[in-house]
Amino acid sequence: MSSQIDHLLNEDRRFAPSEDFAAAAVGTADLYHQAATDREGFWADRARELLHWQTPFTKVLDWSNPPFATWFEDGELNVAYNCLDRHVEAGNGDRVALFWEGEPGDERRVTYAELTDEVKRLANVLTELGIGRGDRVAVYLPMIPEAVAAMLAVARVGAVHSVVFGGFSADSLRARIDDAGAKLVITADGGYRKGRVSALKPAVDLALADRNGSGVQETVEHVLVVRRGGNDVDWTPGRDLWWHEVVPAASAEHEAEAFPAENPLFILYTSGTTGKPKGILHTSGGYLTQAAFTNRVVHDIHPESDVYWCTADVGWITGHTYVTYGPLANGATQVMYEGTPDTPHPGRWWELVEKYGVTILYTAPTAIRSFMKIGRQVAQQFDLSSLRLLGSVGEPINPEAWMWYRSVIGGDRAPIIDTWWQTETGAMMISALPGVTETKPGSAQVPLPGITVDVVDDAGQEVGNGNGGLLVITEPWPAMLRGIWGDPDRFVETYWDKFAEQGFYFAGDGARLDDDGDVWLLGRVDDVMNVSGHRLSTAEIESALVGNEAVAEAAVVGASDETTGQAVVAFVIIKESYLKAHSPEGLAQTLRAWVGEQIGPIARPRDVYIVGELPKTRSGKIMRRLLRDVAEGREVGDTTTLADTAVMSVISAQVK
Ligand code: WT7
Repeated sequence: MSSQIDHLLNEDRRFAPSEDFAAAAVGTADLYHQAATDREGFWADRARELLHWQTPFTKVLDWSNPPFATWFEDGELNVAYNCLDRHVEAGNGDRVALFWEGEPGDERRVTYAELTDEVKRLANVLTELGIGRGDRVAVYLPMIPEAVAAMLAVARVGAVHSVVFGGFSADSLRARIDDAGAKLVITADGGYRKGRVSALKPAVDLALADRNGSGVQETVEHVLVVRRGGNDVDWTPGRDLWWHEVVPAASAEHEAEAFPAENPLFILYTSGTTGKPKGILHTSGGYLTQAAFTNRVVHDIHPESDVYWCTADVGWITGHTYVTYGPLANGATQVMYEGTPDTPHPGRWWELVEKYGVTILYTAPTAIRSFMKIGRQVAQQFDLSSLRLLGSVGEPINPEAWMWYRSVIGGDRAPIIDTWWQTETGAMMISALPGVTETKPGSAQVPLPGITVDVVDDAGQEVGNGNGGLLVITEPWPAMLRGIWGDPDRFVETYWDKFAEQGFYFAGDGARLDDDGDVWLLGRVDDVMNVSGHRLSTAEIESALVGNEAVAEAAVVGASDETTGQAVVAFVIIKESYLKAHSPEGLAQTLRAWVGEQIGPIARPRDVYIVGELPKTRSGKIMRRLLRDVAEGREVGDTTTLADTAVMSVISAQVK
């Protein structure tokens, strides 16, 4: 690790924006000066300039009860109105909001006027179904325009969405529905993935299957189903409704009511250090301000001319902020693609860039590395000359991938922005401004205007340039999480207790400052893994594994992986009773599939090793560090604190 860091810190390539790019850029250097002079005033200006407030706010930040912040508290707005109606009212109703492309190649162009109309109808349907302010709605959809419409319609009536990624299992969906107490689920029969229809409705049916005796009170009253896959589905009359029957039949008249700035907008579940996912809560005014601002200045959005494409699924925070809320608040035109990057051919993304003339592309390092692996000739078959800005998000981007992205995809012309943020931060926090900053391959670099971060040691002391430590956010920001749904104590413990004295937010990431004071992210310092830019907790996968009848004990680590950044590697001990009755053959494979069914395919371990023992300290704590050494094929590190120091050689032998 340290040699890798030294290598990173010796990176001395610099890329300044071209004069033309800098001259036309939305984000300029004076934003930093404004924010440094009056940080709250800076955010208040952004909120007024970028959003329409039905009741203007007079207060900006209230931090009198940390860590519970409010922003623009006495202001009122309607989030959906800001993303839709006002663009239509300004005469831009015919502008394309979504160039949507299905995986099989079907396409839909949805204008701002059409999307507004659809959302108004759906808002009326929601009201008829008894969904109003504060009610929770689970959204479990493929990447289709209805996903965006569903989020906005829920927001429009002041309700709270909880989008659950379509790749999650029925169990994961059930846990999220129950935790939030959702009254309605919006889903589809299925969607296209890897060339075939992947069903969704059956998972909803399973999640809601008879729960008598389970001790859980059923909160879901209705299931609204989009027809997309055309696959057969079971139907529960009275509970289930077809979108195509009720939405077009509803009235397209709908007045957008004003809600307080702190009205909850959504809950999004993410993995933490325990087995139970956390429902990260975001509210309206501050979130939308920072979403719109960062999308505008970091993605350099010129709404009249750009074709923007963020490749994330709306099931993740990146999709919330940079597919739905940011770009639509800015009135931008974007591409939305349903399927996988390599279906039906490995050049599919580049074909879409050429077809729609994409100017701004925002994606994850894992995708870039998998394109690197298949070779530049695939991308080079397409005309990518429309691209003028490239973005990266989700995990550290290694300088090799950065350079490849720059030269093969960006034609050595388009600036690259590496954006650090989290589900919890709601929007970007650390990134270059593409028209201002000289970029460095591999570094996220500088906090955005109005954002203050630092790198500190365990005691909360600044480490200073040239040193490594823990990344903290030193002052509250508009899009910050307002809490963990239903668990205020966990919110305080997870993010604020560590540096309670200083009042810093602890991000969970290691970082280093180089001699210029630029930030280099070094990955998580807790038991959270990052696989293809998706967060997974070791504890969550361990608990799924021990839920299998064969498994006595399990330890999971994130091992570095050339393509996915990290990969899930599991070490399991099989119950003796199980081995007496069954052959262990094929068991590793079965357990991989089991985790996929329990949590979702993204959590499926790359490797499952069956071992006789796990390395534990005298107090019984599993030493994952040593297992990571094994999983990464390294010499095993210091074992002196193990209860039984011989155990690692046994494990290493069993893995080979
Ligand atoms: C974690 C947050 C940001 C939306 C997608 C992931 C890692 C994110 C970067 C980056 C280095 C990054 C961090 C962070 N991360 N962006 N540009 N460079 N690391 O959101 O699932 O909440 O994960 O992703 O470790 O803590 P998330």
